[in-house]
Amino acid sequence: MLVPRHVAIIMDGNGRWAERRGLPRTAGHRAGLRPVRACIEQSVRHGVGVLTLFAFSSENWARPVTEVGVLMQLFLESLEREIDELAAQRVRLRFIGAREQLGAPLVERIEADEARTRHNDGLILVVAVAYGGRWDIVAAAQRLARACRDGRLEPDAIDEARFAAELSLAGLPEPDLFIRTGGEQRVSNFLLWNLAYTELWFTDKLWPEFEAGDFEAALAAFGERERRFGRSSGQRGAEAC
Ligand code: FPP
Repeated sequence: MLVPRHVAIIMDGNGRWAERRGLPRTAGHRAGLRPVRACIEQSVRHGVGVLTLFAFSSENWARPVTEVGVLMQLFLESLEREIDELAAQRVRLRFIGAREQLGAPLVERIEADEARTRHNDGLILVVAVAYGGRWDIVAAAQRLARACRDGRLEPDAIDEARFAAELSLAGLPEPDLFIRTGGEQRVSNFLLWNLAYTELWFTDKLWPEFEAGDFEAALAAFGERERRFGRSSGQRGAEAC
């Protein structure tokens, strides 16, 4: 079976999962950790090279302050708890997003975990926190504009590859497969540039209900897709994956 090199996931539906059980929304976020572990295990098992998880969007800052606080605490606690196991599995951690917006303890933790796992050669686990696709593109444009202003770059030298090299996922293959749980069929300001040719797969299951078998179903669906990258069917075979 053709395995995607890079899977990107929007983990949606935690709040609804909790509300349907008469629990606070934050209980849904806690319950969302189990499928995170399952997806990491499945990615390692099937040889997926990169797994990107959308944990907290630029827009999520608008949620009630208590929910945001619980989420940040959850990120911190789960990193503390899981880092040894992740490191033992040779997982390499990378965080993307506006980390200057995060509290100092979380930033310290993120930077320590990235440094600790930098030389690992297993799954690359990318966690998007305080991330937005538009933020990513604007930040890249600002860096390129500064380089032009300072005479380090010619505007005409900016092509797609040069632009992509400034984005958060620079150096990684583009996502081959995008998964979104929770029933909504939209991209919600996730990896806007990088999803240009990504295969999209949606499920009505809420994130806390997502299981290893669902991840495998998404991989199987991906294996059935015909990826043309703008070419016609007869030209297939020239593409990378
Ligand atoms: C969206 O569900 C989910 C989030 C905003 C948080 C996702 C975070 C986790 C699952 C924890 C992951 C932790 C790590 C370390 C990666 P929602 O609240 O928007 O659900 P709703 O659409 O039902 O309201």
